[in-house]
Amino acid sequence: MSFRQKHLLGIEPLHPEEITAILDLADQYVDLNRRDMKHADALTGLTQINMFFENSTRTQASFELAGKRLGADVMNMAMQASSIKKGETLIDTAMTLNAMHPDLLVVRHPHSGAVDLLSQKVNCAVLNAGDGRHEHPTQALLDALTIRRAKGRLHRLNIAICGDVAHSRVARSNLILLGKMENRIRLVGPPTLVPSQLAEFGAEIYEDMTEGLKDVDVVMMLRLQKERMDGGFIPSEREYYHRYGLDAEKLSHAKPDAIVMHPGPMNRGVEIDGEIADDINRSVIQEQVEMGVAVRMAAMDLLARNLRATRANAPVEV
Ligand code: NCD
Repeated sequence: MSFRQKHLLGIEPLHPEEITAILDLADQYVDLNRRDMKHADALTGLTQINMFFENSTRTQASFELAGKRLGADVMNMAMQASSIKKGETLIDTAMTLNAMHPDLLVVRHPHSGAVDLLSQKVNCAVLNAGDGRHEHPTQALLDALTIRRAKGRLHRLNIAICGDVAHSRVARSNLILLGKMENRIRLVGPPTLVPSQLAEFGAEIYEDMTEGLKDVDVVMMLRLQKERMDGGFIPSEREYYHRYGLDAEKLSHAKPDAIVMHPGPMNRGVEIDGEIADDINRSVIQEQVEMGVAVRMAAMDLLARNLRATRANAPVEV
């Protein structure tokens, strides 16, 4: 089997063949999800617990649906009402849940590295649903699937990632994934939001949107993540929209068939013009959401196969 991971903590540890294995299986789940009968049995009998320590709409709903469609028992922990509020540590909460024998743990946490730490303490497969500014692997995988289906390939494309790169785990995971698949990546935004160290990943950095978008195949917009900003990163939202908000004029510099992406949630009129976001000829934002369910089904299916194989070879723990 080409997918060998025990957890999905980031894109960093994945080989290109493992990325392709997830995307190929996800393609099959896209077909399943378009049928009336959406059930498969890859996770039957397994327990999936979703622990979201940060707000989420799409990611949590998508992981929940993905697990249910594959037959898992899915539980969403209401973290706002949990004992974390009474001072329990992340690890204590995780150990408590671990004693209930979950098989898949889906975790979103505001601190970079927290999900990795947790994965070392439990004996089930852990999926990172976003940790601080670090990684958001399933988002990068669903973006990759969306690009591959729209462009017919996932290599040698010119891709611009625009806006608040500094605070974005989506940008980081995409940068790593798209680089591994041999694409040319540009990071476009003001110097306060596009750290120059990111050139290390092999990306070209542009301060000007018109230049940065010239002849690209893919325009990936990012939300201005004000909750992660602790100072004045931009002069004003109006000024930001004027220079960096994606509108028809700026998009006209990309290739005529360039696609527009956004991971959501969108701030219309801040990083993207509402009409561009809704233009079904350019925007693949709804496809991204659809691909999200399929990619999460594929990732959990592959992790569950490895989990079962490991348990079959190991003595049962009591
Ligand atoms: C992203 C996230 O949470 O990192 N959203 C998502 O998962 N769809 C991006 C964001 O919040 O801007």
